[in-house]
Amino acid sequence: MMLSGMELAYMYSLLLFFVQILILVPSSRAKVPAIIVFGDSTVDTGNNNYIPTIAKGNFQPYGRDFPGGFPTGRFCNGRLPPDFLSEYVGLKPTVPAYLDPAYNISDFATGVCFASAATGYDNATADILQVIPLWKEVENFRDYKKRLSDYLGIEKANEILREAIYIVSIGTNDFIENYYPMQMRRSQFTVKEYQDFLIGIAENFFNQIYHLGARKISLTGLSPMGCLPSERTANFQDPFSCNEEYNNVALEFNRKMKNFVAKLNRELPGIRVVYSEIYDFILEIITKPSKFGKYWSYIQ
Ligand SMILES: *[C@@H]1O[C@H](CO)[C@@H](O)[C@H](O)[C@H]1NC(C)=O
Ligand SMILES: *[C@@H]1O[C@H](CO)[C@@H](O)[C@H](O)[C@H]1NC(C)=O
Repeated sequence: MMLSGMELAYMYSLLLFFVQILILVPSSRAKVPAIIVFGDSTVDTGNNNYIPTIAKGNFQPYGRDFPGGFPTGRFCNGRLPPDFLSEYVGLKPTVPAYLDPAYNISDFATGVCFASAATGYDNATADILQVIPLWKEVENFRDYKKRLSDYLGIEKANEILREAIYIVSIGTNDFIENYYPMQMRRSQFTVKEYQDFLIGIAENFFNQIYHLGARKISLTGLSPMGCLPSERTANFQDPFSCNEEYNNVALEFNRKMKNFVAKLNRELPGIRVVYSEIYDFILEIITKPSKFGKYWSYIQ
């Protein structure tokens, strides 16, 4: 229930996400050689199909609006933000999952997704549903870099990694799958301390991908996670209303993330990180669906 609910909230984030990420796209679209993706279900284009977890999007109605109408492992009715961005910059209409055996390094040279639904910054979050922890996404990226260098030569591979647009979208599950429902982290950290713990992990992650060659990166902020269908259903104090505590934690985390992004831009020469804010936009769709036309009204 938790994961299938996420599909609804995230498909709405596309528009604003684009407005912000376009800052990273050079005026000549052809100059983006690849889209490289890290994160959770918001951007997982199918990796969880190839690992032993129950967190899979491989059944109907997932994929009903995907070309062909079949589920692909995306936690979504159709394509995900990285797919649309890839098409927009003149690359493939979808970004292949790194673990999908149907693709090889020549496919991955123009786009690759390392994301895994239900993962988080915190290793303990990935452990809950046995999905790919963030450190392992980085290991897979390291492996990709090596394969790409073998395939195209080191110079060309480095150029692709330097000019690619990276999408990083992660963090919700650390709170709604781990911190709140599980005892362990709550017994160790206050929620503010836990936010800082996650940002410490994020800092390490950004340093690692920077040293592997990443330069143009979008970091997506958290959505109003207290309004995810799963969280509204589980809101026993005020049934079907948004969980305001979770929303406030998302806002607080986003403020910290914004400062963190400014720090990265100051401290890592040549890096360009944009913080992609989606909170207000998604909240507006949830609270004023009629503004967005008839199609959206079914979520109320
Ligand atoms: C990748 O697969 C395609 C067919 O799907 C094949 O034509 C191509 O040679 C393969 N490339 C590499 C580097 O293995
Ligand atoms: C997460 O696990 C990896 C692999 O065991 C480890 O290297 C890393 O230090 C862990 N991260 C944290 C924050 O504990």
